[in-house]
Amino acid sequence: MKAITQNKYGSPAEVLKLETVKMPTIKDDEVLVRVQAAATHIGDWLLTRGWPYLVRLMPKAKIPGMEMSGIVEYVGKDVKEFGPCDEVFGWGKYAFAEYATFSEKALLLKPSNATFEQAAAIPISGFTALQAVRDHGEVKAGHKVLVIGASGAVGTFAVQIAKSYGAEVTGVGSARNEDLVRSIGADHYIDYSKQEITDGGRQYDVILDTAGNRSLSLLRRPLAKKGALVIVGGSGGKWLMGVTRSIRATMLSPLVSQRLRMFLAKNNKEDLAVLKELIESGDVTPIIDKTYKLNDAAQAVENVGERHSRGKTVISVGG
Ligand SMILES: NC(=O)c1ccc[n+]([C@@H]2O[C@H](COP(=O)([O-])OP(=O)(O)OC[C@H]3O[C@@H](n4cnc5c(N)ncnc54)[C@H](OP(=O)(O)O)[C@@H]3O)[C@@H](O)[C@H]2O)c1
Repeated sequence: MKAITQNKYGSPAEVLKLETVKMPTIKDDEVLVRVQAAATHIGDWLLTRGWPYLVRLMPKAKIPGMEMSGIVEYVGKDVKEFGPCDEVFGWGKYAFAEYATFSEKALLLKPSNATFEQAAAIPISGFTALQAVRDHGEVKAGHKVLVIGASGAVGTFAVQIAKSYGAEVTGVGSARNEDLVRSIGADHYIDYSKQEITDGGRQYDVILDTAGNRSLSLLRRPLAKKGALVIVGGSGGKWLMGVTRSIRATMLSPLVSQRLRMFLAKNNKEDLAVLKELIESGDVTPIIDKTYKLNDAAQAVENVGERHSRGKTVISVGG
């Protein structure tokens, strides 16, 4: 089968190659999926580069790709939930390939109203946005929520999920993304080239920061006295990737009335089901920035590395 392989660290164009590799074999509790679409996110770009450097201590995946949708080819003898021809989506490893194996615990039937490309776009950024809004921001109806990086992969999910909880959402992004962010439900928009989040004196119950390029003190200024700051992402530095800001927030939190949180999203099937429901109810639509062919996977990964995605970047494998 054809797959994208990586044998060293470097720029996606340098290190991601389309090669013919052996078909994967499945264990008894696994499902072999004919991949129709795989999505890519900033984690793929970082792993291609080997940043932060600490990731180099872990074994390198020979085939990248952590989220996908596809058609079940066959299943191991202990698999109960799926059978051949089922259309599924989920997370795992080695998804930039024509076929990949996944645990039954990491798959669900594809949302009935989603294309393969949309379904592949859901897991990683969807988990992050859902857990940021629901678990760490504890967003409730009527809350004023600020989503910084609202047009990005996580941001486009976060805006829609917060709206589905009844929040009043303000998105932050560049001028070119205002229409997109308003079209997915944002009530207000801050174009960061003209305004800072502190301008206008508006206070927020919850601030989700996916852009990662504002100081803690700036982020706290428009946050209500008992509000929650959820640090989703950091930026900068090949060693720490902005993690020191997150650590400072966690240490400061017990000393102030605001809740300052960082978190690492947990991939789990319960939340995949919640995301599927949000999509089937029409509350959330996965936003796709660009779709690439498998042999252009390096360009897809480069696209997310530019950090100006409009939603998710997808690799179309089937068809
Ligand atoms: N905590 C976790 O478990 C977890 C999981 C997944 C991802 N993350 C992190 O979450 C972050 C976001 O990921 P993503 O995939 O959503 O990234 P993304 O798709 O690249 O989106 C980033 C967004 O930030 C916006 N942006 C850039 N500069 C900005 C600024 N100065 N002010 C406001 N917005 C700005 C960009 O919009 P414009 O194009 O309009 O500038 C872009 O839409 C990353 O740091 C990633 O590592 C964390």
